[in-house]
Amino acid sequence: MSSTFQAPKGVSEYVPPRADLFSAIRQAFAEQARLAGYGYLELAVFEDTNLFKRGVGESTDVVSKEMYTFEDRGGRSLTLRPEFTAGVLRSVLEHGLHKQGALPVKIWTTGPAFRAERPQQGRYRQFYQLDLEAIGSEDPQVDAETIALAWNWYRSLGLTRVRLLLNSLGCKECRPAYRTRLQEFLRGLDLDEPTRERIEINPLRVLDDKRPGVRAQVEGAPLMADHLCGECKAHHDRVRELLADLDIPWEDTPTLVRGLDYYTRTTYEFDHPLLGSQSGIGGGGRYDGLSEDIGGPPLPGIGFGLGLDRTVLALEAEGAAFTAPPRCQVFGVALGEEAQRTVFTLVNELRGAGIAADMAYGGKKLKGAMKDADRSGARYAIILGERDITAGSAQVKDLEGGDQAAVPLPQIVSTLKERLS
Ligand code: HAM
Repeated sequence: MSSTFQAPKGVSEYVPPRADLFSAIRQAFAEQARLAGYGYLELAVFEDTNLFKRGVGESTDVVSKEMYTFEDRGGRSLTLRPEFTAGVLRSVLEHGLHKQGALPVKIWTTGPAFRAERPQQGRYRQFYQLDLEAIGSEDPQVDAETIALAWNWYRSLGLTRVRLLLNSLGCKECRPAYRTRLQEFLRGLDLDEPTRERIEINPLRVLDDKRPGVRAQVEGAPLMADHLCGECKAHHDRVRELLADLDIPWEDTPTLVRGLDYYTRTTYEFDHPLLGSQSGIGGGGRYDGLSEDIGGPPLPGIGFGLGLDRTVLALEAEGAAFTAPPRCQVFGVALGEEAQRTVFTLVNELRGAGIAADMAYGGKKLKGAMKDADRSGARYAIILGERDITAGSAQVKDLEGGDQAAVPLPQIVSTLKERLS
């Protein structure tokens, strides 16, 4: 019987063995980030509500409709992070990391984020991201580096169907004039009232409207790509050259707009075709004005957030070969009290030698203990009965092939290490 309680609606929760996969893919990312010089940041889970209002933007759905905001006992308005970027930048500025060494400051973090969305497959109210940011450089090489990092991670997991959709959203020089032109175009269309209101507040979002009626009408809309200033165009061209140098394929997607207001220049999404309506498995881009928006110095930045939940779904959908390291390679079966003590010690030694080991507890009989060994997924069982103790050896059984042989106790660890390598 389960308890009276269940996790709140929309909370994505992982239990073994799926959680082992979840943890292993995060571990694989940690290694990629380290190899590219990114340091780990353990970030606040809740922040001053105004950080998100000013950073992410009050006109976005994320801020206006989806935040978990509450008042603490001191009457302060706090919000569970709906994303990481604003908080990472707040933390970098607060700790002065941008003054301590060479720029860009390279940081990554991970954990849950919270959005009060309508839950469905791939869309949760508590979900998990890998977030990586490079703060303090405009160099297009940094843009390409971040994209490559995400791309290489997907590849290392065995995902082959990820698509990279790429765009540039311009800068504070060229975007305002484009925005005005786009508004003029959109005002001439036959749209409902909420969409008309959106034209005045956040016209780029209208380009992202998924409804077929709206899509057909915005077909001929002016595109940012055709209105980039010289510097933004050169920057965008350079990013694409660098991606080509790295053999990373992308699709130019001039209608790509993201749901957060801080983006400038390079913007991108990773999309997975087998995930239906929640196909965005990751996304990112530049946010060259964000630091100033939250009261900091001019400090251009770029980064991404990769959805861990959707990555797990993509791995399952593709049947990708990536698996978590085994939780049990060797299983100990002991018959009698003295054997229990010996096996208990052996299991501890095996773990010390880097071999995942476990054993039957509770004084089980041979049949029950062997059943546990099979269920554990272990490749080998060590079986120790009273006669074996007298002989100073244990039976090592190959649970796949079925072979069994006596191995002297002092050689158990080295023998298994060799066989498992
Ligand atoms: P985002 O596109 O809002 O960007 O989220 C990044 C990824 O998080 C999405 O591509 C998706 O995989 C996942 N995600 C978002 N919402 C949910 C949800 N409700 N359930 C499950 N997965 C979800 C950002 O958050 C930016 N901060 C990324 C960034 C970092 N840009 C620059 N630096």
